[in-house]
Parts: sequence; C-alpha cells; structure tokens
Amino acid sequence: MALIQEENRVRVEKLEREHTGVKGLDELLSGGLPKQSITLVSGPPGSGKSIFCYQFIAKGIEEGQKCLYLTLDKKIEGLLLQATELGITFQPAIETGQVKFLFLNINKKLIYETMVNEILSGEYQRIVLDSITPLSEMPIYINNPEFTSETETIDHDEITSGNFPVRRLHLHYIMNALETSKCTAVVTSELPSSSTNYSRDGLSEFLADGVILLSLDPTMDRRKMAVMKMRSTKHTLKPQNIEIVRGGIQII
Ligand SMILES: Nc1ncnc2c1ncn2[C@@H]1O[C@H](COP(=O)(O)OP(=O)(O)O)[C@@H](O)[C@H]1O
Ligand SMILES: [Mg+2]
Repeated sequence: MALIQEENRVRVEKLEREHTGVKGLDELLSGGLPKQSITLVSGPPGSGKSIFCYQFIAKGIEEGQKCLYLTLDKKIEGLLLQATELGITFQPAIETGQVKFLFLNINKKLIYETMVNEILSGEYQRIVLDSITPLSEMPIYINNPEFTSETETIDHDEITSGNFPVRRLHLHYIMNALETSKCTAVVTSELPSSSTNYSRDGLSEFLADGVILLSLDPTMDRRKMAVMKMRSTKHTLKPQNIEIVRGGIQII
C-alpha cells in the first residue's frame, strides 16, 4: 500500500510489483519486487548474483521497460558472453536503446558523477548495480577542486595523505540516487562464505528495502536462495533450493 496525500485527503494505493524473471521467486514475493524498491542480492563468488541481474534486466526488456545495467566487475563483452551462454540475448535491446550497459572503472575519479548522472537521468524503470562492493571499499573525495578531470586516475597513495577521503557516505549517496530515480533496483554485494552480515560493508542491507541471500553448499553440491527481508511483503525465510540452467536461476 502507498499513502498519497492530496489536499488534505489521503488515498491508499495498492503496492505494485515488478516480476523478477527468476522462475519461482515471484510466487514467494506476493508477485515480485515492490515497485521503486532497492533489493540487495548478496552471496559469495559464483553464487549467481550476476545471473540474477541478467534475468531481472531481461524480464524488464520483455515487459517493455527501459533498463540500465551498471557493472564494476566485468567488461561488457564478457558479461554479454556469459548471458548468451545461458540463452539470454541482450543485443537486440542494446541496438534499440531499450537497455544500456555501462562499465564503470573503479580507478576513475569521476566514477560517482558518471554513475549518479546516469541513474538520475530519469529514463530507467529498472537499474542494476553489479556490484556495490568495490565502491563500498573505496574512499571518495569531496570539496577538492583538484579532483575534477575524468581522465585522471586515482593515486591510492594519496588516500592516506589527507585529501578528504570520506568512507561510507558514498553508500548512502548511491542508494539515495537509486531511491530518487524512482526505478526498481537490484544491487549486488560480494560476501565471504563465512559472513554473518548480508553485505561485505555491513551497511547496504540496512539501506536496502529487500535482501536476497544466495549461498553455495559444495559438500551437498547444492545452491540456495533465501529472502531475508522485503519491504511490505510477507515471505518465508526458508532457504530455497535453486539450480542454474538455461535461462538462468530457477527455484526447484
Ligand atoms: N551457462 C551456464 N550454465 C550453468 N551454470 C552456469 C552457467 N554460467 C554460469 N554458471 C554457474 O554460475 C556461476 C556464476 O554465476 P555468477 O552469477 O557469475 O556468480 P556471481 O556473480 O555471484 O559471482 C558459475 O560459477 C557457474 O557455477
Ligand atoms: Mg558477478
């Protein structure tokens, strides 16, 4: 439900949902992710976070929405190749401009400006940020006119020499941008297998509206997915067995 105030009158609207594209997941979420929410998809390397993102974007394309995929992990070519191997083809939608893939280089000083400008363009109904971990571990610079050139790369030695590094604030900055853009967002976070947090930075899970945890059980040769948190949604916490097949992740 959403409360909308109009000249002293309050109208209650039904919460709209976005299909995830992951077979079996929407049924666990009363129809899908709440529209205009931010969901953190967390898990160790190889647990299927990026594949989840491909499916979420492919579903958006299928539903005629405009989508943005921000990647920090992988060059676009490698990402498209992995998706193609799973039978997910983005090429036609890239050509029509329905989806945009943007590789963000962590060593560029204007990475935040580039990213936030794109997010706030207001063009997109679905946005993926894969992954937030490199950003959460990197300091940013504020109020320093020297850090303005896009071609400049970061000298990590400067970081300790008092050039206004501000850690953590930028997580709020990114999440705020996603919230302001009114899109439905999926943000991934790398997790060491032994972690008890839902993100490596220990903060993203509090800023997000939802948390989906992916895990691996090598001994049993099993993969799992659990919904740990989802705004305005009654859901089970029970880890679901999943498999990665042609088309991506599905609950079994
Ligand atoms: N075409 C495929 N068919 C089946 N499984 C795949 C395929 N491609 C990748 N996988 C599985 O998915 C894993 C990678 O998933 P990915 O989403 O890239 O993980 P993460 O982003 O969490 O690191 C691989 O380690 C492999 O186990
Ligand atoms: Mg990945």
